[in-house]
This record gives sequence, structure tokens and C-alpha cells, in this order.
Amino acid sequence: MKYNKDIMRHLCFGFAFLLLLFSCKHGEGEYHGVSERIEAESEHYKGTSLSSEKYLEGMETIEITEGGHTFLIPERKGQIRSYACTECHTEPLHKMQSKDVKKAHWDIKLVHANENTMNCITCHNPDNMDNLRSLTGKQIDFNNSYNLCNQCHTKQFEDWKGGAHGKRIGGWAPPRASMTCVNCHNPHKPHFESKWPARFNTQKVKERE
Ligand code: HEC
Ligand code: HEC
Ligand code: HEC
Ligand code: HEC
Repeated sequence: MKYNKDIMRHLCFGFAFLLLLFSCKHGEGEYHGVSERIEAESEHYKGTSLSSEKYLEGMETIEITEGGHTFLIPERKGQIRSYACTECHTEPLHKMQSKDVKKAHWDIKLVHANENTMNCITCHNPDNMDNLRSLTGKQIDFNNSYNLCNQCHTKQFEDWKGGAHGKRIGGWAPPRASMTCVNCHNPHKPHFESKWPARFNTQKVKERE
């Protein structure tokens, strides 16, 4: 019995000591106002960085605002091999094309919509190749090519703005950064083959037995 009491007394002293230690860490009145307190206490959160910035290091991004959503997307023009187009496209397209000229972009085969719906100049601006163009002839910057896609793919665009279609870069912490359409879809051949879901094949297992 006495033995238990001794243990209890030691434990009590122990707890009292710990309580004292922690409650003394920040005395009342040490902070002059709530902002100062938040600032001082946030010191402890360094290291568990609440920012996605480190994931974006070395990636060139642009900030866009679409339908009330503001976020970053990767810059494109620096990534396009044959940009600036006007290095060659110094005159209107029809003047550069002829039956004798070897196709300059032989490696691009359009497999998107059928050819009644779409050809090269549905998207490219034959008068200024450095920009894309909308169906009504408005200029669209290559960095904002999602505005080209959204003319026909409204649903995916709405989902993308909200973050439901496409992938975020980095974490969930701000700043928000997302891949843009052309990071995943080749505009000239955008369809992905669907994959069969990976399943455990019981038939094959039986055959092997
Ligand atoms: C190295 C020179 C060069 C560069 C750079 C270049 N083009 Fe061209 N492009 C040509 C030539 C030459 C033609 C005309 C011959 C032909 O139709 O292939 C042409 C034709 C085209 C056509 C018409 C193709 C057809 O089949 O009707 C499109 C569209 C086009 N270019 C888009 C672009 C875009 C967009 C860029 C920039 C991202 C670009 N080009 C950069 C040389 C170039
Ligand atoms: C659905 C719209 C669309 C159509 C149709 C289209 N393009 Fe493009 N094209 C784009 C977009 C968007 C880009 C920029 C992609 C990116 O950011 O990587 C591009 C890029 C290019 C480039 C630069 C590629 C590179 O890597 O250097 C060339 C050249 C080009 N297109 C030529 C053509 C030609 C020729 C045709 C017709 C055979 C054509 N495009 C049809 C949307 C289109
Ligand atoms: C002028 C209208 C138009 C524009 C602009 C356009 N598309 Fe399309 N797209 C179509 C049509 C039509 C189809 C074929 C029918 C379908 O499958 O929806 C198609 C098919 C697709 C598919 C394949 C759909 C599937 O079922 O697999 C993808 C992905 C796609 N487009 C992405 C894009 C992207 C990315 C852009 C911008 C670079 C773009 N489209 C621009 C009209 C357009
Ligand atoms: C992170 C990559 C990624 C980005 C960014 C992205 N997509 Fe997709 N998209 C996909 C994948 C993967 C599929 C195929 C989904 C499937 O087969 O279930 C798809 C499917 C599609 C389809 C076919 C219809 C469907 O829903 O299955 C269309 C059209 C399309 N995307 C358009 C767009 C447009 C327009 C944008 C930009 C506003 C965009 N995508 C951005 C990866 C992406």
C-alpha cells in the first residue's frame, strides 16, 4: 500500500512539474495583440511548409483567372520546338504552299475531329502563325490554348477550372498550379486509348495449374 502511495506522489510531482514547464513557456502579455502572436507561433511551422512553391521551382508558369478561379499553369511558348512560327511564316500561308514544296510539317498528322469539322487553320492563324485563333477569328495566345479547346469541349473546361479534370502540380497547399490541356493532350491527336482495368485473372490462374 505504502509503495503505491509513493509512486502516486512521484507521479503527481512529475505532472505538476511538466504543467509548470509548459504553462511558463509563453507568459501572458508576452504578445501585443493577436497578429503578433500568430506570427510568433507560426515560427514553429517552418519545415512543414504550407506552400506548393517548392514543387514549381524551375518551372516557368503564368497566372490565369478564369470564371473566378485564379491559378498557375505551365508556360508553353518556350516549350514548342518550332516557335516562333514567324521565323519561317513571313508571308500568308497560301503564298508559302505549293504542290512542289515538300510538306514542312510532315510529322504532324491531324487525328482529332473529321476533316469537315477541322483542318490546320481551324486552330492556327494563317495571317499570324505566332497566335492561335478562335472559330470567330479572334487571336489566342499559345500560352492560353485552353481557350481554343474550350470552344468545343465546354464540359472538360468547366471541370478543369474547378480542378476535377486534369492534374494539379505539387500539393494542395497554395499557390494552386495545374497542368494545361496541351500538357496531356496532343492537340493534333488528343484521344487516349482506354486501358482495361487491371484485374486478377482467375481464368489464367486456373490454366496455369
Ligand atoms: C522551319 C520553317 C517553319 C517553321 C519554324 C514553322 N513552319 Fe509552318 N510551314 C512552313 C512551310 C515552308 C509551310 C508551307 C509548306 C507546307 O504546307 O508544308 C508551312 C505550312 C504550315 C501550315 C499549313 C500546313 C498544311 O498542310 O496546310 C501550318 C498550319 C503551319 N505551317 C503552322 C505552323 C506553326 C503553328 C508554326 C509554329 C508553331 C510553324 N508552322 C512553324 C515552315 C515552317
Ligand atoms: C485543334 C486545334 C489544332 C489543329 C486542328 C492543329 N493544331 Fe497545330 N497546334 C495546336 C496547338 C494548341 C499547338 C501548341 C501545342 C503546345 O502548346 O504544345 C499546336 C502546335 C503546332 C506546331 C508546333 C509543334 C512543335 O512542337 O513545334 C505546328 C508546327 C503545328 N501545330 C502545325 C499544325 C498543322 C500543320 C496542322 C494541320 C495538319 C495543325 N497544326 C492543326 C492546335 C492545333
Ligand atoms: C472546333 C472544335 C474543336 C476544338 C477547337 C477542339 N476540339 Fe477536341 N474534338 C472535337 C471533336 C468534334 C472531337 C471528336 C468527337 C469527340 O470525340 O468528342 C474531338 C475530340 C477530342 C478528344 C478525344 C475525345 C475522346 O473521346 O477521346 C480530346 C481529348 C480532345 N478533342 C481534346 C481537345 C483539346 C485538348 C483541344 C485544344 C487544343 C481541342 N480538343 C480542341 C472538336 C474540337
Ligand atoms: C493531367 C492531364 C490532363 C489535362 C491537364 C487535361 N486532360 Fe483531358 N483527359 C485526360 C485523360 C487521362 C483523359 C482520358 C480519361 C478517360 O479515358 O477516362 C482525358 C479525357 C478528355 C476528353 C475525352 C472525354 C472524356 O472526358 O473522357 C476530352 C474532350 C478532354 N480530356 C479535354 C480536355 C481539355 C479541353 C482540357 C483542358 C481544359 C483537358 N482535357 C485537360 C487528361 C488530361
